[in-house]
Amino acid sequence: MKTQVAIIGGGPSGLLLSQLLYTRGIESIVLERKTKDYVLGRIRAGVLEQGMVSLMEEAGCADRLHEECFVHDGTFVAYGEKMFRIDFKELTGTPVIVYGQTEVTRDLYEAREKADGKIEFNVEDVVINNADTDAPYVTYTVDGLERRIDCDFVAGCDGFHGVSRRTIPADVLREYEKVYPFGWLGILSETPPVNHELIYSNSERGFALASMRNENLCRYYIQCSLADTEEDWSDEAFWDEFKKRIPAHQAEKLITGPSIEKSIAPLRSFVTEPMRWGRLFLCGDAAHIVPPTGAKGLNTAASDVHYLYNGLRDYYENGSSEGIDSYSEKALARVWKAERFSWWFSSLMHRYPDQTEFDLKMQVAELEYLSSNKAAQQAMAENYVGLPY
Ligand code: FAD
Ligand code: DHB
Repeated sequence: MKTQVAIIGGGPSGLLLSQLLYTRGIESIVLERKTKDYVLGRIRAGVLEQGMVSLMEEAGCADRLHEECFVHDGTFVAYGEKMFRIDFKELTGTPVIVYGQTEVTRDLYEAREKADGKIEFNVEDVVINNADTDAPYVTYTVDGLERRIDCDFVAGCDGFHGVSRRTIPADVLREYEKVYPFGWLGILSETPPVNHELIYSNSERGFALASMRNENLCRYYIQCSLADTEEDWSDEAFWDEFKKRIPAHQAEKLITGPSIEKSIAPLRSFVTEPMRWGRLFLCGDAAHIVPPTGAKGLNTAASDVHYLYNGLRDYYENGSSEGIDSYSEKALARVWKAERFSWWFSSLMHRYPDQTEFDLKMQVAELEYLSSNKAAQQAMAENYVGLPY
């Protein structure tokens, strides 16, 4: 087979890139290791920046998003019994959009199918060959049969555990990593949200986050030990703990119910440099990971897609390599800012095992400053709604 862009990974990055390229008549094939149902079953991001929404619009996939999303003009930050609001709309002019990653992915799959886009599921043994030449090709097996795709470019959109990053020789790649000494236990429940906007809560028992998907679907998280498993946490134990970690006036209103999904995610900051090797471009979680505090993961993947899509467009439409040549530099400049924000917000909101009394006082001082200082709120809001592309 032959195509212009071989895309490894059918998560949000790969699908969005494929659909955007399609709108410009640029051909691609997406290779996904799992089934579509498996990809759609992964409950992940819930908050979208305006930049991501604009890309969904450009891809022609934003109708349902606009019908069903919640527009949030602000968010709440709590510490102990205190709670204050950061007004994104007033501070930056921009709200954030609450619409689940599952729904984004579903809309993108639907659009790709409508356009007869080529997506291969259940692929195994993907190998990216000759990426440092002008004639790259990808080999893989599906149903035990070996396949080959010759292409102009390879987009590595295969997440943190994919093959794309590992294809880049070790002496070219530089990796930066910080692993956090805790995880997030998340549940999904068919209950109304405790509050009309999200609450990020720093409590003496650890972090908690109240988020939502719609008027009868909630996503709640608590910081947990890395040694914990989902089986360690009954629904009752989760709700008991969650209630203790948000201010009492919120806990009183909390409506609980059975969880319909429960999962634990470790927290990590990770960046790979460069994000390009020859004709292979890394995009999204394949190149970088942020801790989830601040909702930057999917949104940063989207900004990579923006730079890569525009670079490829420029190449095919104008014969210019300028966009693809500057891809890594442009994408990384924004990635590092999202890394900084996620690291800062995580550090502010969690309990760390080695935290001293002094460290705790610093958290409170910073939270008090943030609650009362407009410049501090502005910096937080600008980053939360998303820095410009
Ligand atoms: P992925 O979603 O990981 O997709 C990669 C795809 O590649 C997968 O489908 C995988 O099966 C496939 N693949 C892997 N290896 C291969 C291979 N060898 N061959 C073929 N296919 C392969 N981000 C936000 O912006 N906002 C949030 O609110 C937010 N909340 C989060 C909450 C949690 C609990 C978690 C875990 C993450 C959250 N994120 C959030 C992060 C966000 O989910 C990710 O950044 C996003 O999924 C990245 O998309 P991606 O397409 O780059 O990678
Ligand atoms: C969600 C996840 C996040 O990491 C976050 O910062 C906000 C919301 C969510 O899953 O809804």
